[in-house]
Amino acid sequence: MDGKTMTKSLSDHEILMTSDPRPFEKPIYVTKPFLPPIEEFTERLKEIWDSHWLTNNGPVLQGFACQLSKYLQIDNVCLFTNGTLALQIGLQGMGISGEVITTPFTFVATTHSLFWNKIRPVFVDIEPDYYTLDPEKVEAAITPWTSAILAVHVFGYPAKLHALADVARRHNLKLIYDAAHAFGVEVCGTPIAHFGDMSMFSFHATKIYHSIEGGLLTFKDSGLKQIFNYLKNFGFKNEVEVVMPGTNAKMNEIQALMGSLVLKHLDEIINKGQEIETIYRDRLKTIPGINLPPQLPDDVLYNYAYVPVEVEPKEFGMNRDELCDALKRYNIFSRRYFYPLITEYACYRNVSVFDPLTTARKVSSRILTLPTYYDLTSDEVHRICDIISSCHDVGKK
Ligand SMILES: Cc1ncc(COP(=O)(O)O)c(C=O)c1O
Repeated sequence: MDGKTMTKSLSDHEILMTSDPRPFEKPIYVTKPFLPPIEEFTERLKEIWDSHWLTNNGPVLQGFACQLSKYLQIDNVCLFTNGTLALQIGLQGMGISGEVITTPFTFVATTHSLFWNKIRPVFVDIEPDYYTLDPEKVEAAITPWTSAILAVHVFGYPAKLHALADVARRHNLKLIYDAAHAFGVEVCGTPIAHFGDMSMFSFHATKIYHSIEGGLLTFKDSGLKQIFNYLKNFGFKNEVEVVMPGTNAKMNEIQALMGSLVLKHLDEIINKGQEIETIYRDRLKTIPGINLPPQLPDDVLYNYAYVPVEVEPKEFGMNRDELCDALKRYNIFSRRYFYPLITEYACYRNVSVFDPLTTARKVSSRILTLPTYYDLTSDEVHRICDIISSCHDVGKK
């Protein structure tokens, strides 16, 4: 990893010697789930209590699916108990097999969903601005066994939608998006769910938008809906017929209720995220060696789900790991998303990789995501920036 030779880390003594800033009194985590006012939840919970209908395509889930369909302006939606099973079943239902070209810079569930379908992942590099799959590298990796491209809108940054669609069309490949981070994102006024053949959104509690746990597939081919419904419910067609070996991946009524209520607050959540990001951008641009991705183009409506920064060790005076450790001493828990690369995990180390993954390796060694969540106050964001600035001062001494 670059910058490993630099070993300036803040000792407790140095923290005490720094007159300002002080460590946070309570831990500041990288994220914190948004919760709607408890009265909103308990009021609707009563409906579930009265009906005794807790899961198996209940009325709350059906209402939630309609809400999502309207919000995303898309008919083909299917809800699951989590995003991992949604993607796994999505690939299975679409009949994807052989090789799939994908990114190593993601959460491990992206690759696991291929593994569970006995598909070989073919890892290629990412582009340096927004860390999404590089379309030219994708094209270079196509073989007669390639059946699909699995790209990730990592941190909610849209992948190279048009270039990937062009490669997929010319080579007759399916284009699938892991949109786990991208709920609420729009491009040219169109919800991101409309791009590609299928997208998966994660509604895990740590995401910008959540249903405690949950997953959503959106897809072009309406014929897939029935197949996904079978696959998530043991393959049951009716009480006595099982038409395929499905699994159990159903979303329950409590999850659906949470998702339905949080959706009503999504605009506020995103606005708050934007305020936080604006402060970070403004403050961090003055600190050498801390680099945010460029501002997104005007036609992208971003969801402000993450604040990733790259730490350039020489300019900053500490490497990423040293900064991450130093922040912990101040009670700030940033995260190294995504480190290590998928190709470095024991279970994928034996997969042959032909691309040198130059950008992915560099980004993975430098990336740090900073705290952002609805409850984080402007003062707290300023304090985090003050602390990063003082780490730079100490590192440069
Ligand atoms: C990129 C990515 N893909 C897939 C998943 C899996 O989603 P879930 O946690 O809902 O199973 C996650 C998050 O957890 C993710 O970050």
